[in-house]
Amino acid sequence: MKKYLLLTLFFALTLVANEGEELAVKHCGECHLMGVTSKEKLDNMKAPPYWALAKKAREAYGTYEEQATYIIEYAKSPNEQMMLFPKQTIEKFGKMPPLKDKISDKELKAIADYTLEDKFN
Ligand code: HEC
Repeated sequence: MKKYLLLTLFFALTLVANEGEELAVKHCGECHLMGVTSKEKLDNMKAPPYWALAKKAREAYGTYEEQATYIIEYAKSPNEQMMLFPKQTIEKFGKMPPLKDKISDKELKAIADYTLEDKFN
């Protein structure tokens, strides 16, 4: 019985993780490299890839909560005060559009969790 419970828990967690990846690819993947990398994606980058976002977040913020909040808040309303990348990033890629009307906080949290997941860094 205990084994069964653990298995259920494992699959539930996996589902949540996949959901984060799906949402990230859907809402951010058009510009940021999200999910599986391919040559085509690398050649067409329109913004820093997710592992660079995760690295910047970790360098700048000490706690997981702050790191996730930065990703969530930036995606909702990108602004120069919050930027961790150099300002030249905007010259290279253009400005990120605000997504606050396109995606819920809950979905953004799943995306932030996916972006910050340890296996990628
Ligand atoms: C239409 C293209 C586009 C989409 C869609 C997009 N971004 Fe961005 N994003 C950019 C660009 C361009 C930059 C770099 C320039 C800037 O920050 O404005 C950027 C920068 C960022 C940064 C780093 C800002 C910094 O300098 O600290 C974060 C974090 C980020 N995006 C998160 C997200 C998340 C999360 C999503 C999906 C929910 C997303 N973005 C969707 C284009 C996009």
